[in-house]
Amino acid sequence: MIILDSEARLFTLQTRNTTYQMKVDEKGVLLHTYYGAKLQGGDLSRLIRFADRGFSPNPSQVGNDRTYSLDTLPQEYACAGTGDFRLPALELELADGSHAAELRYVEAKACRGKYTLEGLPAFFASPEEADTLAITLEDAAAHIRVELLYGVFEACDLITRAVRIRNCGQEPVRLRRAASLCLDFPGAELDFVTFDGGHVKERGLNRAPLRPGIQSVGSVRGISSHQHNPFVMLCEPSAGEEHGLCYGAALVYSGNFEAAAEREQFETARLTLGIHPFHFCWTLEAGEAFTTPEAALICSPNGFGQMSRQFHQAVRSHLLRDVWHSRRKPVLVNSWEAFYFDYDHQRLLRFAREAAALGVELFVLDDGWFGHRDNDSTSLGDWWVHPKKLPEGLGALSREINALGMEFGLWIEPEMVSEDSELYRAHPDWVLNPPGRPYTRGRCQLVLDYTRPEVRTYIFSSLQKVLDDAHVSFLKWDMNRALAQVWSAGLPADRQGEVYHRYVLGVYDLLERMRQANPHTLIEGCSGGGGRFDMGMLYYTPQIWCSDNTDAIDRLRIQYGTSFAYPPATMGAHVSAVPNEQTGRSVPLETRGVVALSGTFGYEMDMGALSQQEKDVVAKQIADYKESYDLIQTGDYYRLTPPSPDGAPTAWLHVSADQRTALLCLVSGQVHAAQPFRYLKLRGLDPRLQYRITGEDLSWPGDVLMQAGYPLPMLGEYQSLRLWLKAE
Ligand code: GLA
Repeated sequence: MIILDSEARLFTLQTRNTTYQMKVDEKGVLLHTYYGAKLQGGDLSRLIRFADRGFSPNPSQVGNDRTYSLDTLPQEYACAGTGDFRLPALELELADGSHAAELRYVEAKACRGKYTLEGLPAFFASPEEADTLAITLEDAAAHIRVELLYGVFEACDLITRAVRIRNCGQEPVRLRRAASLCLDFPGAELDFVTFDGGHVKERGLNRAPLRPGIQSVGSVRGISSHQHNPFVMLCEPSAGEEHGLCYGAALVYSGNFEAAAEREQFETARLTLGIHPFHFCWTLEAGEAFTTPEAALICSPNGFGQMSRQFHQAVRSHLLRDVWHSRRKPVLVNSWEAFYFDYDHQRLLRFAREAAALGVELFVLDDGWFGHRDNDSTSLGDWWVHPKKLPEGLGALSREINALGMEFGLWIEPEMVSEDSELYRAHPDWVLNPPGRPYTRGRCQLVLDYTRPEVRTYIFSSLQKVLDDAHVSFLKWDMNRALAQVWSAGLPADRQGEVYHRYVLGVYDLLERMRQANPHTLIEGCSGGGGRFDMGMLYYTPQIWCSDNTDAIDRLRIQYGTSFAYPPATMGAHVSAVPNEQTGRSVPLETRGVVALSGTFGYEMDMGALSQQEKDVVAKQIADYKESYDLIQTGDYYRLTPPSPDGAPTAWLHVSADQRTALLCLVSGQVHAAQPFRYLKLRGLDPRLQYRITGEDLSWPGDVLMQAGYPLPMLGEYQSLRLWLKAE
């Protein structure tokens, strides 16, 4: 709900559990008064303190009132260059070379329904589910208007923000920084939590108290990156899974980003989130506007668990456009770790037959099917079938796969080109690279210039020819290198600061065209695993391959970190062969299944090489998948214990909305002799109900399971449990 008090110029956003408020003061400055646990309302600007602070200057409007400084006030959208020296949200470069901006209030409007952002991914809602507040600010001297957009999703405590910046003057203006979110906190006793790592070790949780100065994570790799995720949290130092105030902020964007938190001199804090300012410079000609990506905010007064469940709900209901939402997703098998590049028509068919016999429903042909791609140094860009490997074509292969009762899926990497390709030979200028500079290659490949419409159109039509020929119901859209030497032949020198962002807009444009041309094809995102696992991609690709690391024990940590913002149903997770390719570790097949079953589930191994005993386990896993599908797709997710380096078991729980059904999953780490007795406290159950647990005769009261805990059996190393709890 939005309470817009025009007279008091007071704007209050109420969600189920939280309140967010702003007020325009008598100088016309939009101040941030509060964000936190739900309050009745009223004017909270009384919380704001004024004091004469040395070296904090005063705007001209206040004359010599030394107690009024933009450097000390909590602001809703802070500008650089006019006396607020903290992290800016907006930095302009005006035609005269100045970098000053000062925004003052113009008007505010509220309406039912959620705003939309053209060409950008964004949360969506019906008019009953969300409201929009639009506040217009202006820098009269620079003739710049800034529209702050707020989407309020009451039920899931979600507040989205985006910003439109318009040049209403005659001279061009350059944007040097345009954050999607700026959020001031009255105190700085906060922990900054980020999700970091690298290729095959994505999204590890890191938590540290805010120290004086700026702390930031971000990406300048052109993709949101394996190294840092565009989702961060600030929380009270005492906050944990079940208690304490915490704030989660995600950028709905897949390119360069910066998430920065500042603890400033008077012990307040500011968080900004948006496009990374590195090599960002966007020119607004007279009349033009720029729209920032969207930021999504959820505050939980009751710990991380509640915040995550609200994000999961928000993402599932208001971000994913899952073309398969009304049917269970098929169990898939992916050819990559089974064969890499080494296959032909017959080998694939044999593989598919074996998988079909085990109950697999979707066959995904990974890399190697196009051009003359027998290794990763060639053929990207040549999206026609490899004549030697697949002389009968993809159409024939897909029909034979369909005849086995399986659907057919295909891997593509459309943003890339190999120098050894027809495409590169015909259009060497279609790659991103400054003229005269030797290439910086990544995985032997170059990046196509997606800022140029003709490049996207070419790729669209060549891919569409393949899709029209074969019956492809699933596409895995990969992206296997970071951007470097970012320069486009399609833009003049003074516009090169737009390339990173225009590249991302180009990717979104092509994804949208592909979705629309193939409305029944599910697209899975991938970037060397989880290099682009973000809410921007999820808008187009409702599931993303979580990591190239398929080791079940490493995956516990990756999926745990990912779950803070992203629901299990979005996490690509497969059972692969042992010893594992990345770690050399051998984990029991049952345990590999337990971990993959809490994601999208499938196999990535040669199913023909399985023993009869393993085939029986696979059959059981597929049955388990079908049984737990709805719960995992739509249930509430509880992290019970974090993955622990000392080997204590990692446990999590899926609970149905009516709390009558739950699924407890647990994986044991390293074990040592004389294990301790362990009791696992469950959560999210109904304390008054009795639950029957798989394999047990007597039922358990919900309150006992939650307060006293469930006595765990002693498990061997890397063994697992997957237990149903069903209310009687
Ligand atoms: C990336 C993906 C893998 C696989 C290979 C194919 O690394 O993450 O799953 O598709 O590319 O080259």
